[in-house]
Amino acid sequence: MTLPRTIEWVGDHGGHLRLLDQTRLPTEVVFLDCHTSEDVRAAICRLSVRGAPAIGVAAAYGLVLAVRAGAELDAAVARLHGSRPTAVNLGWALERLRICGRHGSGDPVQKLLDEAHAIAAEDEAMCAAMGRHGAGLIGEGDGVLTHCNTGALATAGLGTALAALFTAARQGKKFRVFADETRPLLQGARLTAWELHQAGIDVTLICDSMAAQVMKEGRVQLVLVGADRIAANGDTANKIGTYSVAVLAKAHGIPFYVAAPSSTFDPSLASGDGIPIEQRDPREVTHGMGRQTAPEGVEVYNPAFDVTPASLIAGIITEKGILRPGEVPTTGERLERRG
Ligand code: MRU
Repeated sequence: MTLPRTIEWVGDHGGHLRLLDQTRLPTEVVFLDCHTSEDVRAAICRLSVRGAPAIGVAAAYGLVLAVRAGAELDAAVARLHGSRPTAVNLGWALERLRICGRHGSGDPVQKLLDEAHAIAAEDEAMCAAMGRHGAGLIGEGDGVLTHCNTGALATAGLGTALAALFTAARQGKKFRVFADETRPLLQGARLTAWELHQAGIDVTLICDSMAAQVMKEGRVQLVLVGADRIAANGDTANKIGTYSVAVLAKAHGIPFYVAAPSSTFDPSLASGDGIPIEQRDPREVTHGMGRQTAPEGVEVYNPAFDVTPASLIAGIITEKGILRPGEVPTTGERLERRG
C-alpha cells in the first residue's frame, strides 16, 4: 500500500504546495493546496503539516511562495520562522534558503525552489539511511514502543524512527509495535497507528498511561522515538511524554533510541536547557476529544514538547550511523549544519 504524499510541490516555478491535511486523518484523506506563504504558515501552526523534518521542508516551499509574491527575503524568513519554535529543522531549512537567496545569480524564485527541492530530496535520502541503520536494532519477535508520529507523515521520506520499522518489515522481520496514543493531539493514535496499519505492520495502540504496564509485562524490547531538536550534549526534545517513556525504559532495562537526521541537531545549544518549548492552546487539553472534557475556566499547562536527558538515551540513529552516548558531545562537529 502506497501512502499519499505528505508534501508535494505541484507544477514548476509558478506552482504551489500541496499538503496532506493531517488534522483530518485517520478518517479522511484530504489535501490542502497552499498558494501563499500565509497558507503554509497557517498549515504549520494548526499542524496540518507537522513533524520536525516535514515542517522544515514545508517552510522552505513557503518561503518560495513568499518571495515569488514580492516579499522581502529576511522578513519572509522571520514570519515563517515564528510558526513553531521547537523543531530546529524549520530554522535550519529557512536559513539554507536565506543563504541561497543571497548568493549567486539567476532567477531568485527558481534558485529558492531548486534549494527547497534539494532539502526535500536530501530528507528523503536521510530517512532511507536512518531506516537501514535503525532496522538492525530490531530483533525477530521484538516488541517496539514508539511515541508520537515519526513516519512518512512527519518527513519528506519514509520517516525517522518509523523508517527503521518500515525497513525491518521489508526485510521480512516479524515484530510488534506498541503506539502510544500521544495526548493531547493523538498523533500516535491518529497518525502512527494509521501509517503502520496501512503498511500491514502489527501495531497495537495503547494510552500513554499504559506504557509502564506493557513494559512490566515484558512486551517491549526496544523504544524508538524521533526528535525535534538535539542539543550538543545529546539532550533531546521530542513530543511531550517522550521523557516519561525514557524514564520508564530505564526503569525496565529497555534500550531507548532516538532517530533523527542531521537537520535536527542544534550544536549551538550546549544542553537541552536552552531548547525553546512550544506552549499550545489550553483547548487542546480541555476540548481534545471534540467535546469539553474539563471544567470551564480550569488552569491548563500545555507544553507540546519535553526534553529527555542524554543519560537516558542508548543511541541516536542518524543518516550517518548510530551515535553512542559517548559520541554525542561531538555531534556538532560530526553532523555539521550547512551554510
Ligand atoms: O507536534 P508535532 O506533531 O509536530 O510533534 C512531532 C514530534 O514530536 C515528532 O516525534 C518529531 O518531530 C520527530 S518526527 C520525525
